[in-house]
Amino acid sequence: MKIKNICCIGAGYVGGPTMAVIAQQCPDINVVVVDINEARIAAWNDADLNNLPIFEPGLDAIVKEARNRNLFFSTDVEKAITNAEMIFISVNTPTKTYGKGKGMAADLKYIELCARQIAKVAKQDKIIVEKSTLPVRTASAIKSILDNSGNKASFQILSNPEFLAEGTAVQDLLHPDRVLIGGDTSPEGEKAIQALVDVYAQWVPKNRILTTNVWSSELSKLTANAFLAQRVSSINAMSEICEKTGADVNEVAKAIGMDTRIGPKFLKASVGFGGSCFQKDILNLVYIAKSYGLDEVANYWEQVVLMNNHQKQRFSDHIVKTLYNTVSGKKITLLGWAFKKDTNDTRESAAIQVADNLLSEQAHVVVYDPKVASERIYADLEYLNTRLPEQNRQLLTVEKDPYKACKNAHAIAVLTEWDEFTTYNWQAIFDAMEKPAFVFDGRGILNQQEMEDIGFIYYKIGSQRPNFMQSN
Ligand code: UDX
Ligand code: UDX
Ligand code: ADP
Repeated sequence: MKIKNICCIGAGYVGGPTMAVIAQQCPDINVVVVDINEARIAAWNDADLNNLPIFEPGLDAIVKEARNRNLFFSTDVEKAITNAEMIFISVNTPTKTYGKGKGMAADLKYIELCARQIAKVAKQDKIIVEKSTLPVRTASAIKSILDNSGNKASFQILSNPEFLAEGTAVQDLLHPDRVLIGGDTSPEGEKAIQALVDVYAQWVPKNRILTTNVWSSELSKLTANAFLAQRVSSINAMSEICEKTGADVNEVAKAIGMDTRIGPKFLKASVGFGGSCFQKDILNLVYIAKSYGLDEVANYWEQVVLMNNHQKQRFSDHIVKTLYNTVSGKKITLLGWAFKKDTNDTRESAAIQVADNLLSEQAHVVVYDPKVASERIYADLEYLNTRLPEQNRQLLTVEKDPYKACKNAHAIAVLTEWDEFTTYNWQAIFDAMEKPAFVFDGRGILNQQEMEDIGFIYYKIGSQRPNFMQSN
């Protein structure tokens, strides 16, 4: 079966870039990305490519090439479903905020709504592809809704988890380490798998396209993210020991990374991992383990998230302690709000928790991020519900100019590893700050010697602090 028309439900960080690359690489396939969020679709259709709803290096060029050729963005969900032989589901699956599994399980209400919508309008056979991160065995839930729809169409459900990382999405999609496709082992299932393999094979080498059963595929996604997050929590745990003992976490990371069994990637100590996947997927894994009575397994993985919470907390605690145990009324500038560089996504960003802690200590927090809009920053804080929205707006200011943001500050905290932070005129920043001038580098991107030569009191995560700061 040759796929001619693809529909993707959900025009977010996953659906948008993935479909843009499929359309660019497969000019014979018509790709329609639909979303119920009209503003988002309008932004995808904006003639000015600077206004695309998500920032990803290289994405604008791909959208420019394929949009209105064989890539379309629309709010007409039903029409797109009707016309497509293959439907990707890329809607959000946040952690549940209510009821059973609250704070742990994935909320599948958006997925279920999609399945019901497909069931309602589909008159011909369809291949449904799960792209969103889902708990194991979601495919069977989708199938049961579709099979009971009462119409004659038959459905094959495939799991095709997304492994792209934000900030490098386009490169990850163009040159994936692997593409994973899980499906039914029946002949119809194998036909559906082959149809999706043929789409990817237009640009991905065949030996990088793996096929498995549905449940292996679903569980591999959770496992991959749990392993990656575990590496970050492991190196962050070591960063705290390094600070106490005089070892340097970057030296430790280099030394262990040269062991080919360990490898050099994902060993960068930080103020804590963020992003829409790591925490959510681990909590989801923990929930699944618990639901099978596997308490040791659940506790093992939960520790990765607890360690991450600790890392964020100890970073802000350290700022307060260093600033003579009070930051009340002091201006503290946060450089970076996104959860990593080269994205405007802020979901679960460590900056949110650090800012919230400092605001609770009555600091005057000023934020500069090159890509995050100020309304996003306030919305992230409001979501925590720690204080009234007016109070957040009173205590926290967003600046568009980094030098202005740092002027008269008592301290600067680097929370995202944006490249531009390393190119600033740090002497000029120092000259305009209150003294002593502190820099807390939560990403370890600045040069310690240069910062100290200028006169900063400089703290880098995972290296020993100057003696006078070691209050215990
Ligand atoms: C280990 C370290 O590898 C080595 O660098 C250090 O110097 C000493 O400790 P060793 O204990 O000799 O070496 O063997 P290793 O190959 O690391 O295996 C340790 C245990 O882990 C074995 O019981 C092995 O069977 C088990 N293992 C290893 C697994 O169960 N699964 C694996 O994938 C790898
Ligand atoms: C992740 C997975 O990498 C990707 O495969 C999956 O599809 C979605 O989740 P993403 O969240 O976009 O991607 O970014 P990633 O590069 O994995 O970083 C996640 C967080 O870990 C970021 O906050 C990053 O700053 C942090 N991190 C990463 C570290 O603190 N240290 C590291 O060494 C690596
Ligand atoms: P992700 O990072 O998984 O892509 P996003 O939140 O960026 O998550 O994107 C998910 C998108 O899915 C949102 O734009 C949301 O409006 C859209 N969406 C959710 N439910 C539906 C639905 N039933 N029909 C169409 N679009 C939906």
